[in-house]
Amino acid sequence: MSKRWLAVMLGALVGSSALADVKAIVAYRQGTMKALGGHTAALKAIFAEGQTQFLPDARAHGEAILRLSKSIPQMFPKGSEYRKSAAKKEIWQNFDDFIARAQNLERLAEAFVQAAQANDAAAMQAAFQKMGKEGCGGCHEKYRKD
Ligand code: HEC
Repeated sequence: MSKRWLAVMLGALVGSSALADVKAIVAYRQGTMKALGGHTAALKAIFAEGQTQFLPDARAHGEAILRLSKSIPQMFPKGSEYRKSAAKKEIWQNFDDFIARAQNLERLAEAFVQAAQANDAAAMQAAFQKMGKEGCGGCHEKYRKD
């Protein structure tokens, strides 16, 4: 095999493994975002749709959101753009702002968990609404494709 041919083959291999890496990280972040969506839907049922018998689970949902929010910056490494991803390229053009929005969700989730620890249902409801609107919505409005 000629050296040139070998170089072409290696290039193709490296190229395809890079694509596999991007696909894998996009799968991880979309899976985690879906999980955040699941926890949020469950909390909405508790606080907006009267499923108050599940109030004792609310803290667990909040703690999961808090824990997962800490990994958001890492889930968007440079170059992880992919046609099946709804992440806008602006994320990497304004990465500090993107991280600040992830940290804002973290702070709001922390406030929710504190209200849950205090067993204060009214404070939990208010913290939940703020978390959804400003925490999740505050990032999606700028960085997620429709
Ligand atoms: C700092 C930014 C940021 C925050 C905060 C954030 N998201 Fe996302 N979210 C994104 C981006 C960007 C995508 C698109 C990811 C992709 O497709 O690669 C996304 C995608 C999603 C999706 C679609 C997943 C899929 O592929 O089906 C859901 C659901 C979701 N987010 C829910 C939430 C919820 C609920 C919260 C708050 C608890 C939240 N997100 C907080 C940026 C954020």
